[in-house]
Amino acid sequence: PELATSDSPTQRVGAAAAGPLSDVEHRVPMLSLSNAFDDEELRAFDVRVRKGLGLAEEDEPPRYVAELKIDGLAISLRYESGRFVLGATRGDGRTGEDVTANLRTIEAIPQVLPEPLTLEVRGEVYMPKAEFARINAEREEAGLPCYANPRNSGAGSLRQQDPNVTAGRNLALWCYILIEEDAPATTQSAALERLEALGFPVQPDHAAGLDIDGVIEFAERWREPRHDLPYETDGVVGKVDDIGQQARLGMVSRAPRWAIAYKYPPEQVETVVEDIVPYVGRTGTLTPVAHLQPVLVAGSTVARATLHNLDEVRRKDVRIGDRVVLHKAGDVIPEVVRSLPEHRLGSEREFEMPIVCPECGAPVVQDEGEVRHRCSNPFCPAQVIQGLSHFVGRGGMDIEGAGFAVLEQLLARELVRGPADFYRMRVDDLVVLDRFAQKSAENLVAAIDRSRRRPLARILAASGIRHVGEQTAIDLALWIAAEWPRADGESEAAWTRRVAEALAETDAARFEAVPGIGGVVAASIGRFFDDPNTAGLLAELAEAGVVAIPPEVSGSGADEGPLTGKTVVVTGTLEGFDRKSAEAAVRSAGGKASKSVSRATDYLVAGENAGSKLAKAQDLGVEVLDESAFRYLLGEGASTGTSSAETSSTEVPPEAG
Ligand code: IVH
Repeated sequence: PELATSDSPTQRVGAAAAGPLSDVEHRVPMLSLSNAFDDEELRAFDVRVRKGLGLAEEDEPPRYVAELKIDGLAISLRYESGRFVLGATRGDGRTGEDVTANLRTIEAIPQVLPEPLTLEVRGEVYMPKAEFARINAEREEAGLPCYANPRNSGAGSLRQQDPNVTAGRNLALWCYILIEEDAPATTQSAALERLEALGFPVQPDHAAGLDIDGVIEFAERWREPRHDLPYETDGVVGKVDDIGQQARLGMVSRAPRWAIAYKYPPEQVETVVEDIVPYVGRTGTLTPVAHLQPVLVAGSTVARATLHNLDEVRRKDVRIGDRVVLHKAGDVIPEVVRSLPEHRLGSEREFEMPIVCPECGAPVVQDEGEVRHRCSNPFCPAQVIQGLSHFVGRGGMDIEGAGFAVLEQLLARELVRGPADFYRMRVDDLVVLDRFAQKSAENLVAAIDRSRRRPLARILAASGIRHVGEQTAIDLALWIAAEWPRADGESEAAWTRRVAEALAETDAARFEAVPGIGGVVAASIGRFFDDPNTAGLLAELAEAGVVAIPPEVSGSGADEGPLTGKTVVVTGTLEGFDRKSAEAAVRSAGGKASKSVSRATDYLVAGENAGSKLAKAQDLGVEVLDESAFRYLLGEGASTGTSSAETSSTEVPPEAG
């Protein structure tokens, strides 16, 4: 055993549990793909490619490779001197998780190459459909919750702390990108051949030498048969074959301009609504949820679908007992598309909102001008626990180990009534909880301690101010830091206390001045700092030892770039961007993407059908840019092409939203 090397095939199974996964910075960012949903969008992609390459109508058209889009987990495999040394997940594109030990358990991944090469391979790890079915059957029998789909199940299997678990899951992979510095392939199709020659699994059904019609035909040809493949596919990827051309095209936001993912429309199925049940959420909203006869759609069994609100239930005319059409929005979220009234028998019932909260019995109210119904009791247990769960969650204070079951106990024993109580908790308080030994109590207290110092924006997002998500919290934090700048020599703790007190006394109307937010959001922030139940939260947290890290006012949190210090609003339909990617491009160029036009706006980027924002910008004398001027400002003209398939001059911005 002492002679075994870590990459020996005998080590595929049986390695010791490695503990938490560590972060890996990708040498070359792992990009995502822009999407097309119909032929027209594929043709628009082709037009953008031709334009980007400066090709005229009469020039030879660009040649594409079409590949199936595997619905799995993107990974990167690094080989040094022919040995597999590092495997990582995509993560946010810049930094992923080190899953080397787990990947070593996958048969299809070569541990050693036929030549002593140093290179990187990218591909998709997936769980075969049959394996997914087997594991779920096993879990069901063991009384464990089932996985929603093969992708989640594959991801869960790969991101294990114990490689033995991964080894028992029969994962597989297809490779589609080769980054070889010494002798890079000149085309994607040659790279695929080379990958195969080196012993990597390459999905065999790709086609090369296509024009855009060929890509469209390829997508058409696979529309139905893809369901018979033993793994999940959710589309087709069209890639410019010539890698020199790829380099010239570069990337925008986080996606290459030389590739496009054509996504098949979500599959639609029929099922029956067995009941409609109102659920009480974090902000007290009662959300009607359809309980469905379980049905398989787009790779997973669905038994619930949100109906959002009463208006939606009426608009779709969904009744209890109805037959309905169901799909998965974005291939992920189950959604009732419409009811099928022609199947009604007469026994179907209309859903009514309860007049009292199903959780606490308080009256249900509907505020003027709002579609939602809400429980009027701010102390409603359902709201309290979900509010706390949001507070400790990933996007909030990120307290590891404070799961729902722990929160339930903490509330039941009145160890926690509000968010600040976490920061007063001691190990002795916790050891009395079920399944809490000294060690787990210490771990939780340590996790709470680690969360004491967080960026102001995170604390604001955790506070559960209605309508304030991640981006708005950043806008608000920047405004706060500009309004109440930290004095020279003032500690972060002192600044936190000062800001907390100032906010509680701020006139609600003043929040209208926060750049980037609209009236509804400003009013909601105003109410939060006005309501005696919530106004003092920040002060209470500060009192309990929470410290806010002030944001950098100048850089708006983004990298230095051509738009540093500029506030940009995007409106209308652009050709090369959707709204999100345009805003991400603004941020990655150092600018601030804002939703509403004001005097503080530096540029309005206006696409087709720009409406009131354009009028307002013209009124205020704000500079208006079309798409090409916008691209120019982003500094795209200056990008220098490189030879490797995924390299580009621009860095990948962190995960947006
Ligand atoms: S190429 C530079 N090819 O789809 C572009 N991606 O939705 C890198 N994917 O992040 C990706 N099959 O994880 C490429 N044949 C294929 C793919 C593929 C699946 C995944 C990949 C990517 C995601 C984007």
